[in-house]
Amino acid sequence: MFKVNDNFTKLPSSYLFSEVARRVRAYTEAHPEAEVIRMGIGDVTRPLCPAVIDALHRAVDDEARGETFHGYGPEQGYGFLISKIVEYDYRRHGINVAEDEVFVSDGAKSDTGNIGDILSRANRIAVTDPVYPVYVDTNVMAGRAGELQPDGRWSNIEYLPCTAENGFVPLFPTGEPDVIYLCYPNNPTGTTLTRNELKGWVDYCRKHGSLLLFDAAYEAFIREDDVPHSIYEIEGAREVSIEFRSYSKTAGFTGIRLGYTVVPKELKGRDAEGNLVALNPLWRRRQTTKFNGASYLTQRGAEALYSEEGQRQVRETIDYYLANAAVMRKGLSEAGYECVGGVNSPYVWVKTPKGMTSWESFDRLLEDYHIVGTPGSGFGPSGEGYFRLTAFNTLENTVKAMSRLKK
Ligand code: MLT
Repeated sequence: MFKVNDNFTKLPSSYLFSEVARRVRAYTEAHPEAEVIRMGIGDVTRPLCPAVIDALHRAVDDEARGETFHGYGPEQGYGFLISKIVEYDYRRHGINVAEDEVFVSDGAKSDTGNIGDILSRANRIAVTDPVYPVYVDTNVMAGRAGELQPDGRWSNIEYLPCTAENGFVPLFPTGEPDVIYLCYPNNPTGTTLTRNELKGWVDYCRKHGSLLLFDAAYEAFIREDDVPHSIYEIEGAREVSIEFRSYSKTAGFTGIRLGYTVVPKELKGRDAEGNLVALNPLWRRRQTTKFNGASYLTQRGAEALYSEEGQRQVRETIDYYLANAAVMRKGLSEAGYECVGGVNSPYVWVKTPKGMTSWESFDRLLEDYHIVGTPGSGFGPSGEGYFRLTAFNTLENTVKAMSRLKK
């Protein structure tokens, strides 16, 4: 009889956001009259901006004519988009990234999950706690995480707590991990690291020979000056970091899917014999084998984001969500909740009231206030006692949710 991948059987039976969706579905089926406001999964609510919509229409027309039709594209992305990425996301900010270091994909979730394919199973992993569950779960699937302990931690993963006590700034690892995941602005806490703090991480990785997997999916929400938009703003980062970017939250592409990953050519790991091996060709090999490229239509849509009107329209949308986040911070503190985040991020991280657990407060929010949040413990043991709310909603709903909480 064939065998399954045992690592999957070690995982909790459902992914965090699937479990939240299941509970919300059960509640709304039982209470169809409840006007539920969804502030759970970080899914955008505003439509794609007009510049993207126009570009998508034009791309559909291209596909209707033999002379402009596109079948398979380059697996790593079309040159018309990669040149814009290099110019607008990096060069204009004084950062040196070459076109053959950019790999366009269907999103940062896939890439942060798939990157483990080019890394040895023997690597020791460190994650911040709380953490975006994809980093942990995909290492469990690959057999790198060890066993699940009664305290909710995996035995081979080092957890770096981000708590109110340390200002949600992780301390450096003690276990000399080979691979460190950082997501800043952070999902789920919505907090950031300063330039100096990020420099500390790059220096740590250079000193210890660790790989830094830097998820910058929320960089477009950064409004404060001392918060880097890219890890490559830090000197030496090209030797130790891979950066993941996403158009999901930046431009509303959660449904049409697009992101990209930068793998600098200087970045090298060791093979089993101890020889240095560059990661860029390994990732190219992985992508060209397992991925057939993001769609022509989506890439034309993303190209339009770099036009003058595209940049302005996207900025307006993000400002709209950030204004919601400000309403949430104010409303929550007036209602007596402690919270962080929501300044350079669409996420607000809220302490549960009266020592409730995260899932208790999830139920309470849903049943008493008809608000969906995400339980903090779903992001890791240090998330216990918190819940996360997202600013991806209409202003009207955001105001309504806050006034419900104040009651
Ligand atoms: C979240 O709510 O944390 C995100 O939407 C999940 C994701 O981007 O996959």
